[in-house]
Amino acid sequence: GGPPVPGVLAELREKAAARLDPVHWDFYEGGAGEETAAAENVLAFRRLALLPRVLRGAGQADTSVDLPGARARTPVVVAPTAFHGLAHPDGERATARAAAAAGAVLITSMASTTAVADVTASARSVREDAAVWFQLYLQPESGVTDALARRAAQAGCTALVVTVDSPVFGRRRRDDRNGFHDLPPGHATENMRGLPGAPPGGTLDIAMSPALSWDDLRRLRDGHDLPILLKGVLHPDDARLAVAEGMRGVIVSNHGGRQLDAAPAAVEALPRVADAVAGRIPVLLDGGVRTGSDVVTALALGATAVGVGRPVLWGLAAEGEDGVARVLAELRDDTAHVLTLCGARDCSGPTRDQVVARGPRAVT
Ligand code: FNR
Repeated sequence: GGPPVPGVLAELREKAAARLDPVHWDFYEGGAGEETAAAENVLAFRRLALLPRVLRGAGQADTSVDLPGARARTPVVVAPTAFHGLAHPDGERATARAAAAAGAVLITSMASTTAVADVTASARSVREDAAVWFQLYLQPESGVTDALARRAAQAGCTALVVTVDSPVFGRRRRDDRNGFHDLPPGHATENMRGLPGAPPGGTLDIAMSPALSWDDLRRLRDGHDLPILLKGVLHPDDARLAVAEGMRGVIVSNHGGRQLDAAPAAVEALPRVADAVAGRIPVLLDGGVRTGSDVVTALALGATAVGVGRPVLWGLAAEGEDGVARVLAELRDDTAHVLTLCGARDCSGPTRDQVVARGPRAVT
């Protein structure tokens, strides 16, 4: 009897909530506006069910996936999130070590509290071939964007992830109420030091600009060798444009519900983006992924891999490197388990016909 026993992620989330400064908890947990998109990311997965296939002789499922600049042991990548130094003194270094040990791709944020070269060094201290991608907001000054991309390449990042869902900063009511708009003393956005226009010894502010266009993206693409993935694509026509512009992947994402609150849940936008891309480049998804069933549902609907944002922050805040390791291990083990239950041999096994809506009229 009694309520269900909470899983590893729920346990770490509770522990993180108890340990974190409530202002920082709100920053991690919150969304924009009414927080509809943030909630729907999670709820939309719960409205979907998986139809298992039986007697497939598939054997023990293999969770590895091929991604641009990375062969990963798990389809769960660490989505870029800002300010890991607020969660734990080891900050992004702890996240990087845990991701590397798990064989998971780490997308490190431009808004990290650790410089990208230190992030990659931490990852490589665990595994020489650890894959780290650098997340970038195109800056209105193209010289700044260029300097950041060069730094990421020099640090050994193997791809750039350009986030395109933020022409302006989302309206986060929790942060407004808490007056949280700047990092506390002792923390800085270390990637923003020494850039063109930065004050001596200080950091440049990260700018968001609604004037940016595909021209700015082309400039980045043509000036650098790293493959580029576009993060924050929801419209199928933007996915088509991304393919046409030589992008090497798209990430279907509503930024964890932190930008356009009216955006659909990521998993609801996925099938149409996958159709538009038609297998030409990998499609990733982030937003609301909390279980192996969520991962397999996304794979079945056309994703090659998925990202997790908040769960990594819960693990980091609760138990540092070990907590992040537990999150990634749990999601990988649960994904392997659900793949096997669904009759799939590997991450490309689940098919769209295996995803059905829950509800009284869902299964006929
Ligand atoms: C983010 N996200 C994000 N995205 C990005 O491209 N650059 C960034 O710096 C950040 N920062 C950030 C901070 C925090 C606290 C959160 C929660 C999210 C968005 C992130 O990459 C991802 O899209 C979502 O977090 C995925 O949703 P879940 O897994 O948190 O539900």
